[in-house]
Formats: sequence, C-alpha cells, structure tokens
Amino acid sequence: MAAKINSAYPSVDDLRTKAKKRVPKFAFEYLDGGCNEDVSISRNTSDIRKVQLQPRYLRNYGTSSTKTKVLGMEFDAPFGIAPVGLQGLMWPNSPEILAKAAYAHNIPFILSTVTTMSIERASEITEGKAWFQLYNPVEDTLRDDIIKRAEAAQCPVLVLLCDVPTFGYRPRDIRNGLALPPKMSLTNILQILGKPTWAMNTLKYGQPTFETLKPYTPEGLNLRQLGQFMDKTFSGRLNEEKIKPIRDKWKGKLVLKGVASEQDTQDAIRMGFDGIILSNHGGRQLDAAESTIHSLHDIAPKYGDQIEIMMDSGMRSGPDIARTMASGAKFTFMGRSFMYGVGALGNAGGDHTITMLKTQFKQVMDQLCCERVEDLPQHIIKKQ
Ligand SMILES: Cc1cc2nc3c(=O)[nH]c(=O)nc-3n(C[C@H](O)[C@H](O)[C@H](O)COP(=O)(O)O)c2cc1C
Repeated sequence: MAAKINSAYPSVDDLRTKAKKRVPKFAFEYLDGGCNEDVSISRNTSDIRKVQLQPRYLRNYGTSSTKTKVLGMEFDAPFGIAPVGLQGLMWPNSPEILAKAAYAHNIPFILSTVTTMSIERASEITEGKAWFQLYNPVEDTLRDDIIKRAEAAQCPVLVLLCDVPTFGYRPRDIRNGLALPPKMSLTNILQILGKPTWAMNTLKYGQPTFETLKPYTPEGLNLRQLGQFMDKTFSGRLNEEKIKPIRDKWKGKLVLKGVASEQDTQDAIRMGFDGIILSNHGGRQLDAAESTIHSLHDIAPKYGDQIEIMMDSGMRSGPDIARTMASGAKFTFMGRSFMYGVGALGNAGGDHTITMLKTQFKQVMDQLCCERVEDLPQHIIKKQ
C-alpha cells in the first residue's frame, strides 16, 4: 500500500492535483489561494528556489542525520505542521490525522485557535507534545482561560500570531461566499455532490466546528451571528501592553508568528519571546509582502544568536526545506503541503507527506555530503 502511494504521489504537486479532485471547490480554493492577485504566494516559493547549494564530494563523509534541535527540543526532521484554521472543512477529521502523524514521526504539530479540533484532544493524541497557536482574544478573561487550558494540556509552546490585524482580501473566498458551515448555495451543493468521499466523511465526522472555542460560543447562532461573534471575540492587533501579561503568565516557550521585519524581531527579543516564525501567512494577508526567505537572509545573520528564528511560507519540497535551513533558519513549518496530503489521501495523507518530505530532504543532505542539519549553512552559495 505504502509503496503504491509512494510511486503515485512522489511530490507535493502530485498531492495537490489529487486533492483538487477530491475536495469541493469552495474548500479547496480556501486552502490553495493567496490573496488579491496571488503575487506573494508565488514569490515565496520562487525566491526560496533561487537559493543554490554547494556539495562537498571529497570530504570525509559519514551518514547524514535529519534530527534537529529547536527551543530545547529534539525532532526527527527540521520541519513541522503549521497551524491551519478550519481544517475539517478541507478534509473531515484532518487535524486528528495530522496530529497523529506528527506524533508518530516526532515532528511538531501546531494547533490553530480556529481549527476543528480542541486543545485537549490535540494533547491527548500527541501525549502533550502539540504546540498551540493563539489568536489574541479581546477579553483578558477569555485569553487567560485559553492559556490555562493550553497549560493544563501540557502544551510546550505557545505561538502568538501577529500577522492578522485585518482579514486578508481573498477574491476566491469572496466569490464562494465562504463561511462555517459552508453556505448551502446551489453551486456549493453541486460541488459537494461531485466529491462523494469528502461528503461521506463529512457525514461520518459531522459538521466542522471551532472545537477549542465551543465553551465560549453561544449555542444556536446563525451564520451571520457566528461571524459577528468571532469578530467581536478576537482582535488580531497586538502590542507590548497585550503581550506582557501573556509572557508573564505563560511559563513554557513563547513564539511570535508572522514576523516580517527587523523592527518586529528586535521588539520580540526585547519582549522576551523565545523564538519567532518569519512568515507572511503563506501569502494570504499582504500581497505586496516581502518573500519570507528574503526576510530570513536579512534577519538571521543579525539576530540568530539572540532568538530562535524559524520560517514558514512557500516550501513545498525537501530541497526547499534544505535551502531555508541553509539560509539560517533553525526550523521550518509548512501549512498547505500537509493539507494537500490529507485532501489527496485521507487517513494515509499525514504519514505519506511527512515520509516523502523527509526522504527528499535527506537525499539533499546526502548529496551535499552534509552530516548534520546545523551544518547546512556551510553549503550556501552567497551570490544571490
Ligand atoms: C487554509 C489556511 C488557513 C490558515 N489558518 C491559520 C490559522 O488559523 N492560524 C495561523 O497562525 N496561521 C494560519 N495559516 C497560515 C499557516 O500557519 C502558515 O503560515 C502558512 O500556511 C505557510 O505557508 P505555506 O502554506 O506556503 O506552507 C493558514 C494557512 C492556510 C493555507
């Protein structure tokens, strides 16, 4: 079975093509799209792919290991699963599938505040290893309650998101009238009827809901009211005043996600974050954004010894991960790649995507004759 999957889907592109066939259009486009004219999403990947690496064939070389340390923890590979909201809409039960696969492969899984699995369930599946991404609530009491739950769930890392001060302008979602649960327009119903496996699984697992937020969401809200409730409850805007109490309360590692400038990096260091994830949200928020690999090239050499610098946005392969690690990242995350895997292969998608990316990444290390992940920066060619 695994061998058959490996030969049919050897790349993230193959998984994306298959997922597109199995997921209703409104849900696939929510996953797949960037924002505005889709400039940032494509620039992220094309800039990563400009990075060139140099092999050292005549060096005395043993075997390479993909094990990587970040934030005081050791993982089996230098990549993890980024937080993605509404996962159950794109593939029923997908957060469980991905959390289980991440746990089995010893890589981090980050649970989004607004996904369709609760903090408690994520912790149960991963034996307390799941990281939690927090959208900052407007009310301090709600914030404190969520933080307490993350602590009780033994989350080792709290990831505070800073790059959604407003919703991204996403023409596809606007056209599709995307909402949770999906609007039952005739077009959407026809799209669902055309995807029977997705529809059967949705029947099996039930309508996706924001599981972590269930205790705070009044029952019986219609769609418009649910949207208004979410808008009122969360404010993406962060500043020092809002961050200080979180740093004071959270005893575990604290990471700021969505950093895209030197100034925000300096602030994150001053405010006591343990790490940052350089990210432009996979090109979903600011279409005029700098590609994250460009930010990394500027920020890693200056601040890499003061704070752990991770990166996401645009990676789709082992060589992309190697290029990013060689550019100075301590760790990487991917969002869409794993969701394509689950959309394409259901239960087998998490395991297959991780195995495939690890195989691709290890091949690059072996080809470069690089034994340790932390030695990858020695292989970068500095002429971009
Ligand atoms: C469909 C979708 C939903 C997302 N939802 C969240 C979210 O709820 N919280 C968050 O911090 N980031 C969210 N992100 C951003 C990802 O965590 C990550 O930054 C991005 O996917 C990385 O880019 P990549 O998809 O090119 O790997 C989302 C991304 C996608 C594609």
